[in-house]
Amino acid sequence: MERTSMTVVCLLVCLSFVLVKGEDPYLRFEWNVTYGTIAPLGVPQQGILINGQLPGPRINCTSNNNIVVNVFNHLDEPLLLTWNGVQQRKNSWQDGTPGTMCPIMPGTNFTYRFQVKDQIGSFFYFPTTDLHRAAGGFGAINVHSRALIPVPFDNPADDYSVFVGDWYNKGYKSLKKILDGGRTIGRPDGIHINGKSEKVGEKVAEPLYKMEAGKTYRYRFCNVGMRTSVNVRIQGHPMKLVEIEGSHTVQNVYESLDLHVGQCLSVLVTADQEPKDYYMIVSSRFLKQAELSSVSIIRYVNGKGPASSDLPAPPPENTQGIAWSMNQFRSFRWNLTASAARPNPQGSYHYGQINITRTFKIVNSRTEVDGKLRYALNGISHTDSETPFKLAEYFGATDKVFKYDLMPDQPSTPDDKVTIASNIKNATFRNFVEIVFENHEKTIQTYHLDGYSFFAVAVEPGKWTPEKRKNYNLVDAISRHSIQVYPNSWAAVMTTLDNAGLWSLRSEMWERFYLGQQLYFSVLSPARSLRDEYNLPDNHPLCGIVKTMPMPSPYKA
Ligand SMILES: *[C@@H]1O[C@H](CO)[C@@H](O)[C@H](O)[C@H]1NC(C)=O
Ligand SMILES: *[C@@H]1O[C@H](CO)[C@@H](O)[C@H](O)[C@H]1NC(C)=O
Ligand SMILES: *[C@@H]1O[C@H](CO)[C@@H](O)[C@H](O)[C@H]1NC(C)=O
Ligand SMILES: *[C@@H]1O[C@H](CO)[C@@H](O)[C@H](O)[C@H]1NC(C)=O
Ligand SMILES: *[C@@H]1O[C@H](CO)[C@@H](O)[C@H](O)[C@H]1NC(C)=O
Ligand SMILES: *[C@@H]1O[C@H](CO)[C@@H](O)[C@H](O)[C@H]1NC(C)=O
Repeated sequence: MERTSMTVVCLLVCLSFVLVKGEDPYLRFEWNVTYGTIAPLGVPQQGILINGQLPGPRINCTSNNNIVVNVFNHLDEPLLLTWNGVQQRKNSWQDGTPGTMCPIMPGTNFTYRFQVKDQIGSFFYFPTTDLHRAAGGFGAINVHSRALIPVPFDNPADDYSVFVGDWYNKGYKSLKKILDGGRTIGRPDGIHINGKSEKVGEKVAEPLYKMEAGKTYRYRFCNVGMRTSVNVRIQGHPMKLVEIEGSHTVQNVYESLDLHVGQCLSVLVTADQEPKDYYMIVSSRFLKQAELSSVSIIRYVNGKGPASSDLPAPPPENTQGIAWSMNQFRSFRWNLTASAARPNPQGSYHYGQINITRTFKIVNSRTEVDGKLRYALNGISHTDSETPFKLAEYFGATDKVFKYDLMPDQPSTPDDKVTIASNIKNATFRNFVEIVFENHEKTIQTYHLDGYSFFAVAVEPGKWTPEKRKNYNLVDAISRHSIQVYPNSWAAVMTTLDNAGLWSLRSEMWERFYLGQQLYFSVLSPARSLRDEYNLPDNHPLCGIVKTMPMPSPYKA
């Protein structure tokens, strides 16, 4: 007994010595980004592929791994990829948003280097430039716990990525023309599952995935669509929720799950039914006109027989459906006893006891400026600049590129009074902030924050007031990077701004993002110290006004 525990202690000490002293492993990728013909809804069009694939290659890694991705841009337009949910500690240089990096020009390559520091969970990458998101270019980033850290469920027989989303048949260049012309791209044409769509009763050559009877599988769902919330369900197979965007959840079982744009979650599914085919169903939520949906086949190995055409019903729509969806959100709880890597563990266990230093209340609006459709947050409709804002800060040239804090912390103008400008908020390093999103519009929103996880403490109907804080979940809210805001409702999140850099806060509804519903938090460490933030990497391309400026002196240790 004595000796066993001594051995265990030694093992732990020795291993942690190795982990601290030895460098974390490197995973290297080489990606060719090209155009290719795809037909997610059966209509051939120009899509964006990575190494010839859609979804693109999966980054399957472990907490603290160093990821090196050399991206070759074979498109005829500038390109950036972002790593949605990867926190990029001290390293907004690699975040892949137009505010932080110059794009990878056509015919050139750029090597992203980042560490998945103190994170686990299901994330995805996608292109942020132009309207490339409407053309594909997405793929999985799965971060596993390190070998010594217990995971709160048995190792699944396999790990399946399922990307779902709405789709437009027009092709991204036409969609971009519509938006640039000041009009909406309107209703999508359908729903895809991993870049394909099938109908009930259709003969399909290949199932989406296979399961062996008696085994349990992990399915990681991400909604990579442009604007449509969806509901996912599998005939005859309830889903045990185990993880949402990097947090292990209390393991409730669901017949179906709502998944909003930009969100990921993972479930366990046990193959315990009659061995045959079953449909996975993905259907739209909260669309004004008729529902859109698609199915895929999940096949039992050595199973016999087609899937039944008797599909499980979708959840209710309209007001009742919103109440249903809000209730489901409230059932998502963080498993406080499950171990997992997480940044800033002290802050995360007792987030309910930290005093709020600053409250942002952000109201989204839709309006026309000079006859053209624009979307805004607290009256500012964001535009990018040729010089990325982060580079303007680093080179000390902000006054030539943008003004801080044009957007007030609280909405002060009527929803329809809008200014088009770069929206950069000066936020204070290490502040504990509360962000309230209030949606006065008739359509659902999702917001996402780069650089951090936040505690998603409340989602409620009506308007927010400070008294509503008593309704916050200050105990076991999920720490995640996205939050949905229902029509005529609000949502509140809290986080510590302890990651220096420039970070995108955005609507994940891509038309809204493209036409202005986004901002950047500038979180500068006053120290200009390498302890807080890495230096501009040597391989970064330069563009805009900083291209001809002298290199600033680097941050000091
Ligand atoms: C990328 O394309 C180049 C040719 O342009 C080819 O040599 C290389 O093998 C490709 N890499 C991958 C990973 O497909
Ligand atoms: C993904 O990585 C995990 C942890 O390193 C490993 O156990 C698993 O086998 C990998 N899966 C695939 C499909 O490579
Ligand atoms: C482009 O790729 C080459 C290897 O093919 C690599 O040596 C070089 O560093 C890459 N460029 C950048 C800017 O990352
Ligand atoms: C939370 O995680 C612990 C530790 O792995 C596990 O034993 C427990 O069953 C989980 N609790 C719930 C409610 O899922
Ligand atoms: C939070 O604020 C209250 C009242 O202003 C104060 O008494 C308390 O000490 C503060 N707590 C922390 C942890 O700073
Ligand atoms: C940003 O805020 C900090 C205080 O948090 C202040 O010291 C700094 O001057 C501000 N910078 C600008 C450009 O407003």
